[in-house]
Amino acid sequence: MGHVPVLSKEAIAFLQPRPGAVAVDCTLGGGGHSRLLLDAIQPGGRLLAIDRDPAAVAGGRAQLSGFEPPATVVRGDFADVDRIAREHGFDQVDAVLFDFGISSDQLDDPDRGFSFREPGPLDMRMDPGQPTTAEELVNQLSERELAGIIRRYGEERWAARIAQFIVRRRPLSTTRDLAAAVEAAIPRGAWPRDIHPATRTFQAIRIAVNDELGSIELGLKAALSILSPGGRMAAISFHSLEDRTVKSFFIAESKDCICPPQQPVCTCAHRASLRLLTRRAIQPSEEEVRANPRSRSARLRAAERI
Ligand SMILES: C[S@@+](CC[C@H](N)C(=O)[O-])C[C@H]1O[C@@H](n2cnc3c(N)ncnc32)[C@H](O)[C@@H]1O
Repeated sequence: MGHVPVLSKEAIAFLQPRPGAVAVDCTLGGGGHSRLLLDAIQPGGRLLAIDRDPAAVAGGRAQLSGFEPPATVVRGDFADVDRIAREHGFDQVDAVLFDFGISSDQLDDPDRGFSFREPGPLDMRMDPGQPTTAEELVNQLSERELAGIIRRYGEERWAARIAQFIVRRRPLSTTRDLAAAVEAAIPRGAWPRDIHPATRTFQAIRIAVNDELGSIELGLKAALSILSPGGRMAAISFHSLEDRTVKSFFIAESKDCICPPQQPVCTCAHRASLRLLTRRAIQPSEEEVRANPRSRSARLRAAERI
């Protein structure tokens, strides 16, 4: 089965795409959200859909070509959404959507190396043109660097031991090798009950390989710069690091002053450019989680350009 879009009703409700609107889907993936956006902005609307992954871009071009006008589908990093948008004639837009992380199509393809469930090469690049693979990271970083990545990006309390086991078992070349090192490192009694013990480590290595948090920070800023007044942006996160990045960005951009609280006089000259539409992150309904268990950790935040 292909990727099932998450929180799609909620995302569309916050973005309020109207006929004639100009929208950007920064994470095309399997094209589910893009299709809903295209439906909502016709007649007269235009959609730019971006993905780093050439397979998603090829699939999206085929899928979205039937619409009139068809979506403009571009391969690129959403960190550059402002440049990509201008290059394709999308100077000011009414709606921007981010749906972070990887798609089921990527996760379920063992050759991409994202999954600990299937044996595959340790790759994990969303864009196979990127220089660094997971194999290079796990085999070349120092034990200390690996522990730092697994702790920071995986929020894994066994990070130090996992790094020690990885280094001891090098060279690792498959997803099974990495999963087995993690399984051996975490004492059986401490294995998490609801997720596979290697989940957090795989998440951490994937985030590092793709510099995911760096792209999110740049992408949010870039998206804000092309949003017209009254335009809306929405972001769907899958773990707390992504959600925290979105939350801090939205809060900072909704304030007139971002000086440190201990500073008596404002010197930042910052002016609010966003109005928060979600004080708390929106979570999927029980019904959605039942139908699509992969949606369970999704969180949606949205804001409007002032
Ligand atoms: C969760 S999926 C999106 C699913 C999509 N919304 C749908 O309805 O099918 C995330 C997609 O974003 C892409 N992606 C992740 N980070 C990216 C980035 N920095 N720039 C562009 N695409 C990115 C991934 O390659 C993946 O295809």
